[in-house]
Parts: sequence; structure tokens; C-alpha cells
Amino acid sequence: SRMPGKKVCIVGSGNWGSSIAKIIGSNVKASNRFHPEVNLWVYEETVDGRLLSHIINTQHENVKYLPGHKLPRNVRALPDLVEAVRGTELIVFVVPHQFIGGLCEQMKGHVKEGAIGISLVKGLDEGPDGIRLISDIIREKLHMDVSVLMGANIASEVAADKFCESTVGARTLANGLIFKELLQTPNFRITVVEESDTVELCGALKNIVAVGAGFCDGLGFGDNTKAAVIRLGLMEMVAFAKMFCRGPVSSDTFLESCGVADLVTTCYGGRNRKVAEAFVRTSKNISELEEEMLNGQKLQGPQTSAEIYKLLQKKNLVKEFPLFSAIYQICFQGRDVQDFITCLQNHPEHM
Ligand SMILES: NC(=O)c1ccc[n+]([C@@H]2O[C@H](COP(=O)([O-])OP(=O)(O)OC[C@H]3O[C@@H](n4cnc5c(N)ncnc54)[C@H](O)[C@@H]3O)[C@@H](O)[C@H]2O)c1
Repeated sequence: SRMPGKKVCIVGSGNWGSSIAKIIGSNVKASNRFHPEVNLWVYEETVDGRLLSHIINTQHENVKYLPGHKLPRNVRALPDLVEAVRGTELIVFVVPHQFIGGLCEQMKGHVKEGAIGISLVKGLDEGPDGIRLISDIIREKLHMDVSVLMGANIASEVAADKFCESTVGARTLANGLIFKELLQTPNFRITVVEESDTVELCGALKNIVAVGAGFCDGLGFGDNTKAAVIRLGLMEMVAFAKMFCRGPVSSDTFLESCGVADLVTTCYGGRNRKVAEAFVRTSKNISELEEEMLNGQKLQGPQTSAEIYKLLQKKNLVKEFPLFSAIYQICFQGRDVQDFITCLQNHPEHM
């Protein structure tokens, strides 16, 4: 008899979590390296008077966060996190970043010895010296090896099985390769690289740039301006990664899907761009718009800009990162959005 396959738990069932559940549910059936059933932890809520976990288990559809797509029947929704994680060896973290710390606290002591994780979370958290990677929070709290997956992967398109690429960043290559096997499909192509921190930072920082792209759209600028925002944003992403990462940061990583490709897709599609455009066109603040436009989905760009700005201030580097800084000040400090263009005109890249 063969070894029992590794069981997967997906922690989170929003728009991206549900899309990735579709892929995982189908892939585990095709390989005897994985257990044929998948646990999906669901943050319980009621939708039209019914429990979301119950809807998922009976209709096989996350009607709130991924309507119109069936989930494979071997994906089982569980509202109890401890129960969902029990006995599983591959843990996929895919929740908005503000919830990760609390969820890891609940999981402490319940994760199987030797289990490994992968974070699909795009964002950063506050740490003692400024900022902390989400994967580091998971490593510290749960003492497990954690890879990351980031890329040009707007969830609705992945759920519709439209071709795209993605990047796995792995501290331990063998573990990155296990997750590649779990997640790759003919239309979801994965490259594994070993510069995990750079990959993760790309995923967090691109959301700030997307807010800038949304400002340009709101102000009525064109494609050339947006291309400049993307390029200058990329330069700041590279500079920031070089400053922040302890390990090596190579330009090659930015050429993977997690770098340029995710930046481009987020600056054209993506919820951060959309809300930032509305921010310019209406007089509403960011949290009002998040509430109004996103149906329970969370925004990452503005909050990430706040975390980065605090660190830049502390290190006296605000002037070296004018685009990141202006985006924060416009979102939260009432700086005039027209100043965003002034900041592009005076970017140190041209001086
Ligand atoms: N949606 C995308 O296109 C996409 C693509 C790639 C990466 N990501 C990243 O994936 C991560 C998850 O995003 P998403 O799109 O799956 O989520 P989402 O924004 O669609 O949904 C929000 C989720 O948070 C849950 N939630 C609400 N309150 C909570 C609480 N108090 N505790 C725990 N969970 C709570 C909700 O149940 C829901 O599952 C984010 O970091 C995001 O940047 C998203």
C-alpha cells in the first residue's frame, strides 16, 4: 500500500482563497502525493440568512466572494480553524494581511509536526524596527517553513482558467517544489525562485503603486502617465527591497511574474486602482469607498503605504521614495491629489 498523501488546509476563503481552492481541489485528485480531500477554513458569516460554510458545502459555491464558480466537491468548508488545520501537512495562508497574526495565535499548538506553509497574502505588518513580512509572522508564531506565492493573478481571471503565470519564493527549494506541484495547472504556470523575501515584498509594494495608477485615472491622465507611474513605482520597489532585505535582491526577481507582470496587471485591473480612481472623483475617504465598493473584500494598497511611510520617516528616507510617500499623504493626510503629478515631475530619477 502506498503512503497516504499529504492533506491540505486552505486558511481563508475570500476571492483569492476560493479561486485557489478550485485549483487545489482539482489538483489533489490527480496526484497520489496529496490527500484527496481539502479543508477550507471559512470565516463564518451569514449570507441571506444562511451560514456561508453551509452554502459552500451544499451548493459548492462561495456565493459571496466568488459567485458563479463551482468549487470541487472534495473541498470541505470548515468554520472552526483548529479543526480545519488538524492533521494537515500543507497549509495555504490566503487571508487579508490584517488577520494573519490573530489566526496564527489560534493555530498555535494545533499544527502537525513537520507541516509546511505557503503565504499568498499580499501586505506587510508593523514590526519592532518598522515593518515585518507576513511570512515572518507565520514562521515566528508557528515555527514552520513558509514559502510565498505572488504573481499577476487577479482572482476572477484565475477562477475562469484564463492563462497566467505566478512565482513561488522558497526558503527551502524542495518545499517550494511541493507547492508548485500542488498549484500548477496548464493555465497557471509557476516558476520557483529562492529569493523569497523579494518575491513577497513585490506582492506587497505593487499595491501602493496601483493606488498611484488609480489617481492618474481619476485625474484623467493617459497611458503614458500610467506607464511612468509603473516605471517609477518599480524603481522605488527595487530600491526599497534592496534597503529592507537582509539577503540578496537581484533584478532578475523583478522580471518574474511577481514583479513587473503583477505591477502591470494591478495598475490596470485590480481593486486598489479602482478605489483610488473613485477617491479622486468623489469626496469620500478610503475606508468609506472600501466599504461601499468592495462587498466585504479588503483593500491593501493604502494600508501598506502607511506601514512603509512610518519606516521611511524613521529612517529619514521620505524624499528618496516620493511616490510611495505622496500616495500615503494623499490617502491619509489630506495632501492634494494634484500634487501626485508634481511629485512625478520632480522624481529623483530625473534629477
Ligand atoms: N483577489 C485577488 O485578486 C488576489 C490575487 C492575489 C492575491 N490576493 C491576496 O490574497 C489575500 C486574500 O485576499 P482575498 O481576495 O482572498 O480576500 P477578500 O478581500 O476577497 O475577502 C476578505 C476575506 O476576509 C475574511 N474576513 C473578514 N473578516 C475577517 C476576520 N475578522 N478574520 C478573518 N477573516 C476575515 C472574509 O471572510 C473573506 O474571506 C490578500 O492578501 C490579497 O492581497 C488577492
